[in-house]
Amino acid sequence: MSLIQRTEEDDLAYVMFSAEQVRARVEELAAQISSDYAGREFTMLGVLRGAFIFIGDIMRAVSIPCSVDFMAFESYGASTKTSGIVRLTKDLEESVTGRHLLVVEDIIDSGRTLNYMLQLMEARKPASLNICTLLEKPSRREVEIAVKYCGFSVPDEFVVGYGLDYDQRYRGLPCIGVLKPEIYGGT
Ligand code: IMP
Ligand code: MG
Repeated sequence: MSLIQRTEEDDLAYVMFSAEQVRARVEELAAQISSDYAGREFTMLGVLRGAFIFIGDIMRAVSIPCSVDFMAFESYGASTKTSGIVRLTKDLEESVTGRHLLVVEDIIDSGRTLNYMLQLMEARKPASLNICTLLEKPSRREVEIAVKYCGFSVPDEFVVGYGLDYDQRYRGLPCIGVLKPEIYGGT
């Protein structure tokens, strides 16, 4: 239990997953990844900005070496609904051809962001390509995506904290929670 109550916590209607629950689940995923990737060099590809805390924690929790690189896409503005249009805003630093890739994402909502990213990655001919997402919202899926590692399935609620934002706020919250409706105008 954290001794510091961040003021952002006052904007939450409720906590969906406590920092402790998130930590325990991250360790389970990391154990599974460590055993699946044993003996293989692999790279974690983080999707910015939402996955930056998750990838930092999962990378420290795995027991085998791996490298890290980042990409960024844009599909959301100051809204809780997707625009449906995905644009690459930051590409990887390194070539991924012939490498084992583990894409690390914060949340899969419609699936459009990841679908776009996977198409870009497949064109670069990696040795393998898997997905690790902290959260997924199955009821909102528009594009079918095979997810190998998933932290938690969540209901159709807009969640913040542990890297996830609403209008660039709440990323530093150690828990994952649902905002009070009045914060985002009840839509
Ligand atoms: P998708 O393209 O609809 O799957 O949306 C993926 C991206 O939208 C995620 O990587 C998040 O950045 C953002 N997103 C979707 N749902 C939420 C949410 O509940 N809270 C915060 N960000 C979200
Ligand atoms: Mg994201």
